[in-house]
Amino acid sequence: MIQKFRWCALSFTAGLCAFSLYAADVKPAPIPPLMLGSAWYPEQWPESQWETDLANMRKAGLNLVRVGEFAWSSLEPSEGHYDLDWMERAIAAAARHGIVTIIGTPTDAPPAWLTTKYPEVLRVSEDGKQMQHGSRRQFSIGSARYRELCADIVAQLAKRFGHNPHVVAWQIGNEYTEDSFDDESRRRFHRWLEKKYGSLDALNQHWVTAYWSQTYSDWNQIPMTTGRANPGLLLDYKRFVTDTWRDFQRNQVEVLRKQVEPRQLITTNLGGLGWANRFNRQMIAADLDIISWDEYLGAGWFDNSKNGSGHLDPVRSGATNDLVRGWKQKNFWVMEMPPGFVDWSSVSNSLDRGETRAMAWHAVGHGADAVAFWQWRSALNGQEQYHGSLVGPDGEPVPVYAEIAQTGKEFAKAGPTLQGTQPVSEVALIHDYDSRWAIEFNPFSRRYDQMQLLMDYYQALREPTQAVDIVVPTVALERYKLVVAPSLNVISPELAAHLTEYVEQGGHLVLGPRSGMKDGFNALNRERQPGPLVPALGGRVEQFYALLENVPVEGAWGNGSATVWAEWLDKLAPDVEVQLRYGAGNDWLTGEPAAISRRVGKGTITYLGATLDPTLMASVARQWLKDAGVDSPVISAAPGVSVCRRVDAGREVYVITNFSKGPQEVALPGTMTDVLNGGEVSRMKLARYGVTVLTRSLK
Ligand code: GAL
Repeated sequence: MIQKFRWCALSFTAGLCAFSLYAADVKPAPIPPLMLGSAWYPEQWPESQWETDLANMRKAGLNLVRVGEFAWSSLEPSEGHYDLDWMERAIAAAARHGIVTIIGTPTDAPPAWLTTKYPEVLRVSEDGKQMQHGSRRQFSIGSARYRELCADIVAQLAKRFGHNPHVVAWQIGNEYTEDSFDDESRRRFHRWLEKKYGSLDALNQHWVTAYWSQTYSDWNQIPMTTGRANPGLLLDYKRFVTDTWRDFQRNQVEVLRKQVEPRQLITTNLGGLGWANRFNRQMIAADLDIISWDEYLGAGWFDNSKNGSGHLDPVRSGATNDLVRGWKQKNFWVMEMPPGFVDWSSVSNSLDRGETRAMAWHAVGHGADAVAFWQWRSALNGQEQYHGSLVGPDGEPVPVYAEIAQTGKEFAKAGPTLQGTQPVSEVALIHDYDSRWAIEFNPFSRRYDQMQLLMDYYQALREPTQAVDIVVPTVALERYKLVVAPSLNVISPELAAHLTEYVEQGGHLVLGPRSGMKDGFNALNRERQPGPLVPALGGRVEQFYALLENVPVEGAWGNGSATVWAEWLDKLAPDVEVQLRYGAGNDWLTGEPAAISRRVGKGTITYLGATLDPTLMASVARQWLKDAGVDSPVISAAPGVSVCRRVDAGREVYVITNFSKGPQEVALPGTMTDVLNGGEVSRMKLARYGVTVLTRSLK
């Protein structure tokens, strides 16, 4: 709690003033082991109402607020004139209710004075339109001027709040999204290419620009486009966008690192339902202390029409949480979650009673140490009036509040047990941005949905193990018994060496369809697939086929069908084993190998060239798990019941959530402590959306 502090008496001009002094004996608030919170926008409400809001938060067991991420015009009403006092009062008021604060830097929403005075900071879309004020994200990530202005406001905030005992973290901007096609960005792109290739000859050679007379004799001739262009250019553009976002972020990270105490963690909240791939998110995570993401249900890849329900699908949600955890291979925060519903889906339906709580717990099971809702209170105006909230425009609780309050009580109870624990897995599934982009630029078959395929693999591997890590292929792999890479399209010689070493040291590597077609420049690998891994595999892809009809497959791993993609494999080395062959149906494929494997060093390398029907996929995955010696889980659960395990050296904690349509029995292998209700249990019945948290000692 605040004991004594002094407000800076001066009025605020840049460079003068402005930090508050806390008595040296005010101890920094520790980060609670499990945080439940909300985005709170005190600048939108009369200060006289803050107390009621905060008291209601406290009643709901919230211990975290995130403030400031769109408040630039309130923090710097005119250029160089800062008003940070209100934020300091808001943080202090929250602290009096036992609530810690994450400050969002306001750079996602530049104020009108800024974009009027410096119109060159405005983003330009690919079709040449310059953005205007009135929404958010209207800035160009490549603008040097914008970065200076961001650094200034962030420096002011850092100076004032970098030692504030109640501030536990900083969030940079908000949900990085759009890149810009203005002239300055084009110049940056050309400089970036020059730095990467050193000479135009090298670029021309790697991109094979003799094709369609694309040869460049000046860097400035190189187009910046996302259309149907040279695959080498398209892949480099994505990497350039990644680096530009990374620099944009670093500009603020550096200001913060200089001025804020290291206990205040630096993060950003990644949006786009986790899977968005405008840039490489794992690289963005590298410069942060902890990663956060925003878990929503709605349009796009998660579209209601696609997953059929508008409700949480534990497989997809679980995979996304695992993907996010994989960026730093550490626990993470969910910075935004809808309290019931959003306002932007094709039908913004409400989650069922109980589902919001189950969704929060489900994220915790997968490694979230914080869940914050968006947003606390319905804004009276602004673009998101209908969005779900915990209290209405009147400041009074809405129906979902009670459910979140229950979650708050439970988080407080379970926090100490979960502290220091994290999910562990013996199985890694690879998600690689380069490969994903390369396939997206030319899918070849509209039926080849690489994200659905990743999900099919995830489901087939997770059901029998209850734990799968999703990681990029360049991480240290030794900790995994089994590494599975569907659609690992881009394999450079360096990546091939990394994967081969994993196998030689005893790892079991499975490559899925379309692996190793491309090199690091998105050019075709001359060796055919899987490119530089052909020698280790002792085999290769003779030809690939996009299917219109299923083709039977049969062999040691079971019988079933190839569905949308089939590769005819060749056995080059005598010790290669054929695991599956195509049956009659497609004259090109009949009798040819569909899956091969080989022992290499102390491990194995396997290539599966076909997408498989779900039943065969499930049995093939079980075979891989068995061959790799992956342990089976101790709790068996009905479909729709998610079992997550978090461990530390001394204990294991299970978070079990029931997303199936009705109640389910869960039988335990022995007794465990029921963390939420107390007592020892050996079996239980979970209602629909029921949650249980169990623990036992590992000693
Ligand atoms: C997020 C965004 C929030 C809010 C929310 C509504 O993507 O970060 O600021 O707009 O969506 O669902």
